[in-house]
Formats: sequence, structure tokens, C-alpha cells
Amino acid sequence: MSHITTIAANFGLGAAMTSTPEERALVKRLDSGLQTIEAGLAENLHFGDEYTNTVARYLLEAGGKRVRPLLALLTAELGDSDCRDVLLAAQVVELIHLATLYHDDVMDDADLRRGVPTAHTKFGNSIAIITGDLLLARASSLASTLGDEMVRLHASTFERLCLGQLHEITGPTSGADPIEHYLHVLADKTGSLIAASAMVGVMTSNAPAEFGEPLREFGEKIGVAFQIIDDVLDLNGGETGKSKGTDVRHGVATMPVLFMRQSTDADARALDEGLTAAAAAGDDARFETLVDELRASRFTAETIATAQRWGTEAVTALAVIPDGLTKQSLTRFASRVVERSH
Ligand code: IPE
Ligand code: IPE
Ligand code: MG
Ligand code: MG
Repeated sequence: MSHITTIAANFGLGAAMTSTPEERALVKRLDSGLQTIEAGLAENLHFGDEYTNTVARYLLEAGGKRVRPLLALLTAELGDSDCRDVLLAAQVVELIHLATLYHDDVMDDADLRRGVPTAHTKFGNSIAIITGDLLLARASSLASTLGDEMVRLHASTFERLCLGQLHEITGPTSGADPIEHYLHVLADKTGSLIAASAMVGVMTSNAPAEFGEPLREFGEKIGVAFQIIDDVLDLNGGETGKSKGTDVRHGVATMPVLFMRQSTDADARALDEGLTAAAAAGDDARFETLVDELRASRFTAETIATAQRWGTEAVTALAVIPDGLTKQSLTRFASRVVERSH
């Protein structure tokens, strides 16, 4: 299987879904759309000189799941799926995502991304930051060719992305519930762009206007579920292409940690203190053992159950969408998001 045909398949929209001619046609359309989007991304990340092109394409070429473009293609199935604008709109959302990865890895002091050294470890912080900005500039100029509504959607989404990141750093205000605060952060830093990905499919395919809000809600909720699972995967390392325990090591209190801190049990206290001490002492072996312990704990199980609830709510938002292959595919996509292992 080529890289492109694994993208939709990873979300349950490949060989497992080819028993009817209608399903086969859908899988073919998705794969072909993803192929065009991929070629468009490589072409659009072109800035003149070779060094800039190399840095700008560095993370694109490293891999990635392309979950946002895939969702845009899926929701475009609700309207005229032949409309070409979705192929450009899907590139815009992936470019914004890519840009945030350059920036996020600087802020999180992360070593690995998509299985390769992060951009700032390879090219330095300043180059990584400015490259993220460059990608955002390119995304904005592409969005402007799709009209005012698209520009407004991207501007408001980008504002939420920044606010989510900001509030993750500042933490809850005194007296605020840390879990509620964290869910709000996730909705802004991840839900907003996944919601926008769902929306661009509806907008560019001229799907019925009444599908807009339910699809936005679907995207936002599945985006929150996606990020909660990402927090769990941070404890795995390995297959994810990122280092194990990056969040804990850098003091980002993700959901398993928040549940652990809510507990007054002695084992929870000991684990929390042990993790902090091992990270501070640079005792990698001890740190990894404790991260494994957190991964296997009831706090992580509770985190996964929370993601499942968000996934179920996302599917509930699809109630107004008529039964059929598109709804079935969105539902399948949602269950893969909460079951994913990398
Ligand atoms: C990583 O996103 C950042 C999050 C919002 C969780 P993805 O998990 O979609 O990253 P890639 O694109 O597959 O690398
Ligand atoms: C990333 O959040 C969210 C963005 C909007 C970039 P994380 O910091 O949790 O994502 P990963 O785990 O590094 O991919
Ligand atoms: Mg990060
Ligand atoms: Mg981060």
C-alpha cells in the first residue's frame, strides 16, 4: 500500500469498506482526493530558495496522518463531492496544522515529531518559528482565493488555536476546575481546527446549510476526543513518532495527570512525586518506568473513557444527517479516532 492509500484506511475507510460498489467508489474518491491534496501541499510549500523550501517541507515530508484533509473530504461527500475547492481548502487546514507543529515543538521542547528530530532541534528555534509563520502566511493566501467566508473561518479558528495554547500555558485561574479548564484548552487548541476541517467540506461542496452546525459540532467533539487520546499516546512513545512522556517531562498536566492529582490516594501521590523527581533529576530509566505505571493506571483508563464519551457525543451530533454511506463513514472515522494507537 502506498502512503496515500493508508491515510483513509487508517481511519477505517480502506479495504475494510469495499464490499459494495458505492463503498468502493467512495474509497477511490478519498484516495484520489488525498493524492491531489498531497501534491498540492508539496507544490505550495515552495518559497524560492532551496534552504527555505527544505525547512518548509521538512515536517510535511516526515509523514503525518492527514486527518484534517481526510475529514474535509468526508464532509464534502454531503454535497457535490466533485467540487474541486475542497482540495484547496483541505490544504489550507493541513498547512495551518503543520505551522502549529513547528511552533508547538519549540514551546514543548519536544525532540521527535513524525518520527524525525523536531524542526527546531535540526534548524534552531528561530528558523522553526519563522517557518511556522511562513506556512501560516501561505495558508492565508490560499484561503483568500476561496472567498471571504473561508478567510473569516480561518481567522477565527486561528484565534482559538492561539488562545488554547496560551491557556494551556497559563493554567486554570484560581478556584477554576482544572479538568474543565483543560477540556476548554483542548476544544480551542485542537477541536477548533478539526471543526474547521469538517466545515470546509460542507462549505466548498455546497452541502445543505443545515448540515453546517451539526458537522461543526461533530468536528469539535471528535477533535477533543482526538487530543485526549493524543495525551494518552504521549505516555506510549514508540509508534507515535514522538518521545515517551514529553508532556509530563515538561510539566504539561494532561488528563491522566489531572485525574491522578485529583486523587488523594497514597499511590497517586507517590506516583506524582516520583515522576516530578525523576524528571528533575534527569533519571530517564526511572522516569520511563513511572510513565509506564501512569499509562497502566486507573487515571489513564478514566482518560480513555472520557475520550470515548466525547466520541459518542460527536456521533450524536450527526443525528440530523440522513442515514447513508457518508454518515456511516463519519461514524467509522469517529470510532477509529478513539481507538487509535498512533
Ligand atoms: C498532533 O496532531 C497535534 C494534535 C493536535 C494532537 P496529529 O496527531 O494530527 O499529527 P500528525 O499530523 O498526524 O503528525
Ligand atoms: C498540540 O498539542 C496542539 C496544537 C495545536 C499544535 P500537543 O502539544 O499536545 O501535541 P503533540 O502531542 O505535541 O502532537
Ligand atoms: Mg506538543
Ligand atoms: Mg503542546
